Amino acid sequence: MRFVAVIFVLLSCVEAITDPTDVQALQVLYSSLNNAAQLTNWKNNAGDPCVESWRGVTCQGASVVSIQLPGLGLEGTLGYLLSSFMSLKTLDLSGNNIHDTLPYQLPPNLTSLNLANNKLSGSLPYSIAMMFNLNYMNFSSNELSQNIGDIFNNLTSLATLDLSHNNFSGNLPNSMGSLSNISTFHAQNNQFTGSLIALSSLPLTNVNIANNNFTGWIPKELLSIPTFIYDGNSFDNAPYTTPPPPARSNNNRSPSPPTGSNAQSSNRKKLSIGAILGISLGSALLLLLGFLMLLFCLRKRVKKEKIHKTSHPNSFNTEMQEQMVKPIEESMFEIQKYGSTQIIIPSISYTVAALQTATNSFSQDNIIGEGSLGPVYKGDFPRGKIMAIKKIDNAALSLEEEDNFLENVSNVSRLKHPNIVLLEGYCVEHGQRLLVYEYISNGSLHDFLHFADHQNKSLTWNARVKVALGTARALEYLHEVCLPCVVHKNFKSSNILLDEDLNPHLSDSGLAALTPNTQREMVGYSAPEFALSGIYTVKSDVYSFGVVMLELLTGRKPLDSSRVRSEQSLVRWATPQLHDIDLLAKMVDPTLNGMYPAKSLSRFADVIALCVQPEPEFRPPMSEVVQALVRLMQRASMANTRSSEDSGFTYRNPDHDISF
Ligand SMILES: *[C@@H]1O[C@H](CO)[C@@H](O)[C@H](O)[C@H]1NC(C)=O
Ligand SMILES: *[C@@H]1O[C@H](CO)[C@@H](O)[C@H](O)[C@H]1NC(C)=O
Ligand SMILES: *[C@@H]1O[C@H](CO)[C@@H](O)[C@H](O)[C@H]1NC(C)=O
Ligand SMILES: *[C@@H]1O[C@H](CO)[C@@H](O)[C@H](O)[C@H]1NC(C)=O
Ligand SMILES: *[C@@H]1O[C@H](CO)[C@@H](O)[C@H](O)[C@H]1NC(C)=O
Ligand SMILES: *[C@@H]1O[C@H](CO)[C@@H](O)[C@H](O)[C@H]1NC(C)=O
Repeated sequence: MRFVAVIFVLLSCVEAITDPTDVQALQVLYSSLNNAAQLTNWKNNAGDPCVESWRGVTCQGASVVSIQLPGLGLEGTLGYLLSSFMSLKTLDLSGNNIHDTLPYQLPPNLTSLNLANNKLSGSLPYSIAMMFNLNYMNFSSNELSQNIGDIFNNLTSLATLDLSHNNFSGNLPNSMGSLSNISTFHAQNNQFTGSLIALSSLPLTNVNIANNNFTGWIPKELLSIPTFIYDGNSFDNAPYTTPPPPARSNNNRSPSPPTGSNAQSSNRKKLSIGAILGISLGSALLLLLGFLMLLFCLRKRVKKEKIHKTSHPNSFNTEMQEQMVKPIEESMFEIQKYGSTQIIIPSISYTVAALQTATNSFSQDNIIGEGSLGPVYKGDFPRGKIMAIKKIDNAALSLEEEDNFLENVSNVSRLKHPNIVLLEGYCVEHGQRLLVYEYISNGSLHDFLHFADHQNKSLTWNARVKVALGTARALEYLHEVCLPCVVHKNFKSSNILLDEDLNPHLSDSGLAALTPNTQREMVGYSAPEFALSGIYTVKSDVYSFGVVMLELLTGRKPLDSSRVRSEQSLVRWATPQLHDIDLLAKMVDPTLNGMYPAKSLSRFADVIALCVQPEPEFRPPMSEVVQALVRLMQRASMANTRSSEDSGFTYRNPDHDISF
C-alpha cells in the first residue's frame, strides 16, 4: 500500500498540485488534531499534501483519496471540514484519542471509515444515510450513544458494520433490512433493545450482539450463521418444553457463544475451528441420514403400494408405524439450541411486500377461509411453494403489544405434531400482523361433511375414524405433552384441515392466548360449563372433540336451524340414542350408504358418550380417547384378518374395499 502510495506521489510530483479544497480540509484537520507532531510534513497554513507526502495521505491525481493514521496517539477532534473531502475513499483514524462529537457531515464518498478505539461521543449523524459507497464502517470502542436512526436504506454496499463497545440504545432500525451486502455486524456491549428481526434476512456470516438488552426470540436464519455470538441478552425462554440440554462432548462443537465478553476474541478462533469441524461432521451425518431416509421412504412406498393393491389387513399397523416414525423424522430438522438460558425455535419473518405479492395483493379470490382472527389467504411463493396466510384483524387482537404477539408466535411455532398445522413464519410490519402456515390442500372437515359440492368425495367410515384419531392425537399433544399445556378453545370441524390423503391437521392451535376475551364462533361446540360460567379448561376441548365425533358419525351440523326443533341441537338429539344399536344405525350419516362396520360404529359411539358428558370431571383425558380409538382400529384390523363373514361387519356391499 505504502509502496503504491509512493509511486503515486512520485508521479504526481511532476504535474499535479493538490486540489485546494482537499488542502484546506487537511489543514483544518491538522489544526483540530492539535497540530500533532506525529503528523510529519503536515502544515496548517500552506504546503501541498500530495507533493510533500504528508504522513498517511494518499493522492490520486490532484485528489486526496486516503487518510490512514491509525494508532498514533492523536488527540483533539475531527474538526468541521471533513465534508470537503469529496474524493476521499478511505479514512482510518482508529486507535487514537480523538474526542468530541462526530461531525455532522463525514466525507461523502467514503468506502471505508474506521474511527474505532477513540473517545468520540454523541450519536451517529444522519448524513451517513447518504454515504452510498460505504463498504466498511467501524465505530467500535467509543462513547457513542442514543438511537441509530434509519440510516441504512441506501447503504447497499456496506459489508462490515462495527458499533461494538459504545453506549448505543434503542432498537435496531428497520432500515438495516436493506443492508443487502452485509456480512459482518458487531454491536456487542451496547444497550440495544428490541428484537433481531431487522437482521433476519441479511447475508450475514459474522454477528456479535452479545451484552445488550435484546429480547424476543432469535430468527431462525441467524442460527445458521457461522459466527453468531449472542449471550448476555434477554431472549425468550421456552415455555412449553423443558428438556435437558442436548449432550455436548465439548463447548467448541456447539455454535453457541462463549460466555463473557472478555473471552470472546480468544474463543472466536476456537469457535470457528469447532464450527468447521461441526459442519463437516454434520454434513457427513446429514448425508448418511438422507440416504437412510431415502431407503426408508422407498421401502415405505413399496409397502404402501402393496397395501393398496391387496387391501392388506395390517394396514392399520403400518399406519401406526408411520405415525410413530414421523415425529422422529421431523425432530431432525428442528433446530433447538440450549444456550445458557435461551431456547430458540425457528420461524421465518416475511415482509408485507412478499406476502402481498404471494396473495395477489390480498385479493378476494385468494381467500380460503375466515378464522377467528381474520381472513386466511392462499399465498403462491417462488418455486411453487404454497402457504396459507392468516391476516390478523387488529381489532380481534386483545394484546396490542408487538412483543407479546411475537412471543405468542414463538410459542405457536414450537407446536410440532403431524396432526397440527405448522406455523412456518410471520410478518410484523407497518402495523400489520400476519401468520404464515403450511398449506393443507383439501379444505376443512366442515366443508367435507356439510357442503353439497363435497358430496362426490364424501368420507368413508375409515377416513372418519382416521380423522377422529388424528385430531385426538393433536389434542393429546396440546393437553398432555406441551408444558404448560395448551387449551385449544376453538376446536370445531372448520378448524380441522385435511390433506390429499385425508390426514387431519388441526389449525388455530395456540392462538387462544391472543384473544382471551373474544367470543369465539363456537356455537354448538361449547361445553355447558363454558356457556354457564365462562370457564374453559382442557375438558371443554374434550367436549368439543365429542361434538366433532358426532358430526363425523351423523354428518349433521352441531346446530342446524333447518331441522325440526327436537333435532336442531346435535348433542341433545343424539346423546340419548348413542347406546341403542338400532337407533344408532338410524343416526349414521346417510352418505355412507350403510358401508361401515357395526362394531366399530358402536365403539365410536361409546367414546362420544364419554366426551360429551355434562360434568367436565367425568370426561376422559385425551390420552384415553386416543387409546380407545386405537383399540377400536386394532380390533377392527384384527377382525378383518379373519373372514369378513364372522367379523360382525354389516356391509350393504360386501365387495366394497373396506379394510376395517
Ligand atoms: C464520488 O465519487 C465519484 C467518482 O468516484 C464522483 O463522480 C462523485 O462526484 C463523487 N461524489 C461526490 C458527492 O463527491
Ligand atoms: C474495528 O476496528 C478495530 C480497531 O482497528 C478492530 O480491532 C476491529 O477488528 C474492527 N472491527 C471489524 C469488524 O473489522
Ligand atoms: C434511496 O434510494 C431510493 C431508490 O432506491 C431513493 O428513492 C431514495 O431517495 C434514496 N434515499 C436517499 C436518502 O437518498
Ligand atoms: C459487497 O462486499 C464485498 C466485500 O467487501 C465487496 O467486495 C463487494 O464489492 C460488495 N458488493 C457491492 C455490490 O457493493
Ligand atoms: C450510557 O447511556 C445511558 C443512557 O442511555 C447513560 O445513563 C449512561 O451514563 C451512559 N454511559 C456512558 C458510559 O456514557
Ligand atoms: C439493560 O439491562 C440492564 C441489566 O438487565 C439494566 O441494568 C439496564 O437498565 C438496561 N438498560 C436499558 C436501556 O434498558
